[in-house]
Amino acid sequence: MNVAIIGSGGREHAIALKIIESKNLSLLYCIPGNPGTELIASNISINPSDHNAIIEFCRSNKIDLVVIGPEQPLVDGLADRLRVEGITVFGPSSNAAQIESSKSFAKKIMNDAGVPTAQYKNFSSAQINEASEYLNGINYPTVIKADGLAAGKGVLICNNITEAELAIREIFEQKIFGTSGNEIIIEEFLEGEEASVFAITDGENFVCLPAAQDHKRIGDGDTGKNTGGMGAYAPAPIVSKALSDEIENTIIAPVIRQMRKTGNKFVGCLYAGLMITKSGLKVIEFNCRFGDPETQVVLPVLEGDFLGLLYSAASGNINLNAVRYSGGCSVCVVAASKGYPDEYDKGLIIEGLDYKDDQIIIYHAGTKMDLNNIVTNGGRVLGITSVLKTFDLQLAKKKAYDALNKISFDGMYFRKDISDKALKYIQ
Ligand code: AMP
Ligand code: GLY
Repeated sequence: MNVAIIGSGGREHAIALKIIESKNLSLLYCIPGNPGTELIASNISINPSDHNAIIEFCRSNKIDLVVIGPEQPLVDGLADRLRVEGITVFGPSSNAAQIESSKSFAKKIMNDAGVPTAQYKNFSSAQINEASEYLNGINYPTVIKADGLAAGKGVLICNNITEAELAIREIFEQKIFGTSGNEIIIEEFLEGEEASVFAITDGENFVCLPAAQDHKRIGDGDTGKNTGGMGAYAPAPIVSKALSDEIENTIIAPVIRQMRKTGNKFVGCLYAGLMITKSGLKVIEFNCRFGDPETQVVLPVLEGDFLGLLYSAASGNINLNAVRYSGGCSVCVVAASKGYPDEYDKGLIIEGLDYKDDQIIIYHAGTKMDLNNIVTNGGRVLGITSVLKTFDLQLAKKKAYDALNKISFDGMYFRKDISDKALKYIQ
């Protein structure tokens, strides 16, 4: 099978590394890929927004499966275009991708399917006065979200009405989230612990992969600004077998059914961002793709034929037994540029990338080749990841940080507490 992966981040590096394990793989291409994927696949310099060039490439290289990593090309309809051309693709249609690109669409699907989520109300920019009035009658903290895509940064948690008033003015008048903020939702603040679950589906049947936990805030102890994700671990012991069954039965199955029923059949990876609250499970958000950095820890704890799983889902007849949990665990610590998630420098030389340990994977995310050096090229630069064959998160954490200490670039920043939240469940 010839396979093309669309995207250039740590998630796509992780998908590539897992796919090359398959006996059924002939050639693997990454469009455009990064210096990490270059070591295991052929990087093709096409912009993921150039759908015509991607189709042309797939035709001339006899691509049997396209795996689309990021949300933007999905929302822009790349999967629809490929399907029209008869090319098998893992990833939802643009209509189905609305589960991520429109928070009000996602809320409607959840409400109609009876799936538990935070109470909410939506407002358009023309309704700024109504939104403002609504803020008088609610409890604080409250959560104000841009309706559209905002790279994980479109969520403002407001502690009081003054902050909330300011937030709606910033979104509607100063357009801090651009057109993604033409509509907002104001929703109930949920308290609890988060978990991420990936459901791989052909639109009808599905398999859930082991749950992971992301670390969204920049600072230790979940402080400071939201980021794209500063580290993750899997499996997350907070998701017990009973909770995992509940997630499948009360969240994933009804949503997949509702998507199909409303003409938005979802084929690909449905990512459920969950809050485990005192009063039960609630959905924070859905994404229409694998999460980053959760993918970097979930895929290494799978055994079996991951490519077979993706291909069977993309072809409409998912093989529910293609992969299984290995019994191991994985911890990924993101090495970020100083200043991220705000301004940061690029082009800094990265040292130590030749570090070798068969329990360590160094995923590339924001890197690029510059003459003979690999240099920083983004906010989240690398994901230093340990993978153990047994479930010992404490050891996995130690291994990941030991490896991280061998790697450096000017101003390298990382959280020091990735996976600590799991410890209370396993002592
Ligand atoms: P999202 O972009 O919807 O994933 O939100 C980003 C982060 O904001 C989440 O991972 C949560 O940590 C936080 N968040 C979002 N919605 C809520 C909510 N209703 N209550 C509490 N925290 C939230
Ligand atoms: N890790 C969060 C996301 O991928 O959206």
